[in-house]
Amino acid sequence: MVKVAILGYGTVGSGVAQVLDTNSSEVAISAGQEVSLKYILDLREFPGDRHEQQVVHDINVILDDPEIQVICETMGGIEPAFSFEKSALMKGKSVCTSNKELVAAHGPELVELAKVHHCSYLFEASVGGGIPILRTLNTSLKHEKIDAITGILNGTTNYILTKMDKEGAGFATVLKEAQEKGYAERKPEADIEGYDACRKTAILASLMSGQYVSFEEIETEGITKITQEDFSYARSFGMAIKLLGMIRKNENGFFTIVAPFMIPLEHPLASVNKVFNAIVVHGNMLGNTMFYGKGAGKEATASAVVGDLIDCVIHAGSHIDVNMNAEHARLSDNGSFVHRFFVRVPEEDADAALEAFGDGIEHITSDEVAGEFAFVTDLISEKHFHEAYQKLDRAKGYLRLL
Ligand code: HSE
Repeated sequence: MVKVAILGYGTVGSGVAQVLDTNSSEVAISAGQEVSLKYILDLREFPGDRHEQQVVHDINVILDDPEIQVICETMGGIEPAFSFEKSALMKGKSVCTSNKELVAAHGPELVELAKVHHCSYLFEASVGGGIPILRTLNTSLKHEKIDAITGILNGTTNYILTKMDKEGAGFATVLKEAQEKGYAERKPEADIEGYDACRKTAILASLMSGQYVSFEEIETEGITKITQEDFSYARSFGMAIKLLGMIRKNENGFFTIVAPFMIPLEHPLASVNKVFNAIVVHGNMLGNTMFYGKGAGKEATASAVVGDLIDCVIHAGSHIDVNMNAEHARLSDNGSFVHRFFVRVPEEDADAALEAFGDGIEHITSDEVAGEFAFVTDLISEKHFHEAYQKLDRAKGYLRLL
């Protein structure tokens, strides 16, 4: 029997306990032995909870117990999670976490600690919730040359964009409703400004490069500027609008961006709605493959943590390689990243737009929007686009096209 501990008995932590309880025999078969939850670290008491006797308030009880082999860190945030994880790894206890903020900020250091101390640091649940994407990249697809990853990586923003599209409501109204239903946080910036998707993109880019991409290096735009007019135009020419994390590899290095994109309706990502996430991976031999599922939520995220836990049990005493190290991957200058762009300007600025972007633009109309000139550019670089767009000082907004 192997003894494990959970740090943080919130949504994901209590989900981990639930998965271990509900699927105890499947977990035991998979791990090759029974997995017993010995401790739960939390500041609070949980009277009446079936695990109330396992709750402790001092991390040292867990760290100093030689029986504990694996720790599931589901507290979130940088501190004290970072200190707790480091201490656990230094004692040779493997750590599994859903904490994308910590993995994105300090992943390489934690992976190195695990390596030195012959244990593992796994973080499947940090990207795409329950979608088994990281292990797949590191095992089934390890032999592929992966040159593109494109993902809907944030459930909250996908829910908001789906509602805006299908119900015609404005951003502020939908955000308020999402908060009331508990889908969006009371402080929603991490989601709506794209920071959460940025961290997940950084983790994916790190694994894709086999090195490290810092979230601070990724250009990030959120969804707060998207309006009903954008959706009207998108519908009129067969597009959906999705917040994407995008990584492209070429001979110069990696392009990375998090931004809202217009996507053709026939693209598989266009039909990923509500709180679901999906990630399209392109390999040189494989072509495209898409992974779809619940990107958030208690049971789905906890299932991913337990999958890692089982891997740690199976590989006790050795280190599972996660294909991330401290060396920074070579990122390309986004200025040469090429897209088509959708642009809206006031009707009276149509000539100025033509002058800035040239004759190659495609005029887009919508029956629902008046007084505007909207168009899609040719394929142009980010640098060229921004130089031209700056000349249109009354422009009403732009979106990239996938
Ligand atoms: N806030 C995140 C989301 C939770 O909406 O996807 C899962 O990481």
